[in-house]
Amino acid sequence: MENNRRNFLKSGALMGTSLLASAAFGSVPAIAAVSQGRALPPADMKRRVLGSGSNRIEVSALGLGCMGMSYHRSYIPERKYMMALLRKAVDMGINFFDTAEAYGPFLNEELVGEALRPVRKDIILCTKFGFNIANGKLVGTNSKPSHIREVVEQSLKRLKTDYIDLLYQHRVDPAVPMEVVAGTVKDLIKEGKVKHFGLSEANAASIRKAHAIQPVTALQSEFSLMTRQPQQGVIPVCEELGIGFVPYSPLSRGFLSGYINERTKYNPDNDNRPTLPRYQPDAIRANWIMIETLADFGNQRGLTAAQVALAWLLAQKPWIVPIPGTTKPAHLQENLWSADYTFTGNELAELTATLSKITVTGERYTGVQAQQTNK
Ligand SMILES: NC(=O)c1ccc[n+]([C@@H]2O[C@H](COP(=O)([O-])OP(=O)(O)OC[C@H]3O[C@@H](n4cnc5c(N)ncnc54)[C@H](OP(=O)(O)O)[C@@H]3O)[C@@H](O)[C@H]2O)c1
Repeated sequence: MENNRRNFLKSGALMGTSLLASAAFGSVPAIAAVSQGRALPPADMKRRVLGSGSNRIEVSALGLGCMGMSYHRSYIPERKYMMALLRKAVDMGINFFDTAEAYGPFLNEELVGEALRPVRKDIILCTKFGFNIANGKLVGTNSKPSHIREVVEQSLKRLKTDYIDLLYQHRVDPAVPMEVVAGTVKDLIKEGKVKHFGLSEANAASIRKAHAIQPVTALQSEFSLMTRQPQQGVIPVCEELGIGFVPYSPLSRGFLSGYINERTKYNPDNDNRPTLPRYQPDAIRANWIMIETLADFGNQRGLTAAQVALAWLLAQKPWIVPIPGTTKPAHLQENLWSADYTFTGNELAELTATLSKITVTGERYTGVQAQQTNK
C-alpha cells in the first residue's frame, strides 16, 4: 500500500514565492475578481493520497474544515468574508473541503457550495449524512437507506453540484447494519451522485464490514495530541486496508494553538466547547503543559504551537490529512505552513516521548456524544 500511495506523491517543494505573495489577506481580491469561473493556478502545495486503487483521491496535505464558519465555534463571521476565505484557500493550494448537513444545520453546506461553485471541478468536496435533524437540532442517528438518499439529494442542492466527491457517514447508526449503509452508498456511487465513501468515528469492526461492501476512501475521526486513541485502534486498520485517515479537530478545537485559555468566553448558543469536559477552566489549566511543550519546541525552530501540533500529525503517516478549521486568513496561512516542516527522526521521537508523558485531563465527549463514537 505504501508504494501505491507514494507513487502519486508530488515532491511538494516548500511553498514558494507565489504563495507568499498571495498570503496577506489585504491582497484578497473580491470574490468575483478572484477568477472568472476558474481557480487561479494552485500554489505549490504538498499533496497526499487518501484511499487506494480506484477509490483513491489526491488532496492537499491539509484540508479546510469549514464547520466553524457557520457552527459551533462561537462567532459567525460575515458571509462575504467566509466566501472570500474559501476562495482564498483554493488559491493557496487547498483542494480538500469538509462540511456536513449537520453544520448549521444546513447553513455551512450552503456557504461552501456557493463559495466554491466556480471552482467545483478543481476541488474535492466532502460532506456527511447520518443524523435526524429537527428544529435546528441533531436528534439521534439515522442511516436508513431512504434517509441517506434524501440527505444526499438535499446536500447536492445546497452544495450546488451534481456529485459529492467524498460522502461520509457522520456517526455509525446502531439500528442500521453497516453492510446496508455501505450498499446504499455503493448504489449512489454507481448512479454518479457520489464518488467515494467515508466513515467518521467508526471502530475497526465497522470499518471492516463497510470496506467489504464498498471500499472506504477515508476515515474521519478526532485525532490530535489531545486525542491519540486512533493510534491504538483504527489507524492500524486503515493502514492494513489502504484507507486514508482524516483527523478532525486536529488542534483540539483551538486549544493546541494556545489561543484559547481558561478565561475564554464562548457563545453557548453556538459552541459545543462549554459542554465538553476538556474546555472547562480546570482542565485547560491542567493541560496547559501541552501548549508549553509545543511552544518550547516551536520557539527553537520558528514554529507556532499550532504548527508543531499539525506537523506532528502529518509526520505520523503519509496518508493522514488533517482538516483544521479556521475563520481567519492568518490562521489558514499559519496552518498550511505546518506542511513545510519535516522532523528529523530524533526530534520526532523526543517530542513524542515528552508529549506522551502528559496525561490529558478531561474527556473529549460525554453522554450521548461519547456513546456515538468508536461504534
Ligand atoms: N466528523 C466529525 O464528527 C467532526 C467533528 C468536528 C469537526 N469536524 C470537522 O473538522 C474541522 C475542524 O475541527 P474543529 O473546528 O472542531 O477543530 P480544530 O480545527 O482543531 O480547531 C478549530 C479552532 O481553532 C482555531 N484555530 C485554527 N487555526 C488556528 C491557529 N493557527 N491559531 C489559533 N487558533 C486557530 C479556530 O479559530 P479561528 O477561526 O479563530 O482560527 C477554531 O476555533 C471542522 O471544521 C469540521 O469540518 C468533524
